[in-house]
Amino acid sequence: MFDQIDKIRKNAKELVKDATGSAQLEEIRVRYLGRKGEVTAILRSLKDLSLEEKRKVGPAAQQLQKELRDLIEKKSADLKADGEVYELDVTKPGKRIETGHLHPLSKLEEEIRNIFLSLNFSVVEGPEVESEHYNFDALNIPEGHPARDMWDTFWLKEPGNSKLRNKSSRLLLRTHTSPMQIRYMEKHNPPFQIIVPGRVFRYEASDATHEINFHQIEGLMVGKDISLANFKFVIETFLKKLFGPDIEFRYRPSYFPFVEPGLEVDMRMTAKGGKTGWLEIMGAGMVHPKVFDAVKYDPREWKGFAFGMGLERLAMLKYKIPDVRLFYSGDTRFIGQF
Ligand code: FA5
Repeated sequence: MFDQIDKIRKNAKELVKDATGSAQLEEIRVRYLGRKGEVTAILRSLKDLSLEEKRKVGPAAQQLQKELRDLIEKKSADLKADGEVYELDVTKPGKRIETGHLHPLSKLEEEIRNIFLSLNFSVVEGPEVESEHYNFDALNIPEGHPARDMWDTFWLKEPGNSKLRNKSSRLLLRTHTSPMQIRYMEKHNPPFQIIVPGRVFRYEASDATHEINFHQIEGLMVGKDISLANFKFVIETFLKKLFGPDIEFRYRPSYFPFVEPGLEVDMRMTAKGGKTGWLEIMGAGMVHPKVFDAVKYDPREWKGFAFGMGLERLAMLKYKIPDVRLFYSGDTRFIGQF
């Protein structure tokens, strides 16, 4: 038995000495100290020995177990300190490090901002929680006006002691970016041209082209001789910069209380299988004199055009996405493609 213990000690020590990596060291540990290891086997066999033999062999076997444990631990620390250089396999394929990237809607918004900056527009932003005054009244949509039905609204519950409880400043989640027209004109004098990118909310059923939470980019240009011709030039230039020269779009008369005349712009969309249809991308028009009145601009002196376009709709056209809800699905198989 003692011979066996000595033999194990000798062999194990040599193996530990020559080990070049932690995996190899683990193999040695299992071979000697594991559940079915050689040292463990000797310790287990003690029960079959006579009392006298047990007294002699027992401490020697335990000593060996401790010695090997310490040896392996020390070697492991040494290897770690040396950085286990020997285990480096330069032929192994590299590990791919996953990096995040911008969401397609953020990317597109950035692209749109840059196009308008190149057209000498400024970019401003406004609050997502708005008051009824800016979202509706100042835009010539007073309470009871049938056009309020065009924007299904998330109203906010206000605390009972709110100073804002008087009716004209009830709070809501803005249904469009148009309230920023008023906020901007209250604080700035014309002439100017701005865009307002931002998130908007509507309490409506979602489908392939409608979300309850989406983004708009508002545009407003005010000056002395602004006309619809200026609007058409700016929008055509913008759309061609974003989509390239071969696009098809159309203007269609429409109605919004804060513009006169009002119109909408549609773009040709090619669906799977080559089928084509029109997708509405923006509402627009010449700023209504009542809106200028609300911000104390003289409507006889100043003219302007405004537009509000849907970011998701533009993204659907640009990336050929058939369903707006995919943008908010959180599905990395979709997001990862951009
Ligand atoms: C408006 O919100 C007006 N404020 C636009 C405007 C601004 C008109 C300035 C005149 C002057 P509308 O509700 O049509 O209009 O929305 C504008 C655009 O937002 C639509 O053309 C569409 O592209 C997009 N849009 C509207 N509803 C949704 C929705 N539920 N999901 C995704 N995009 C939408």
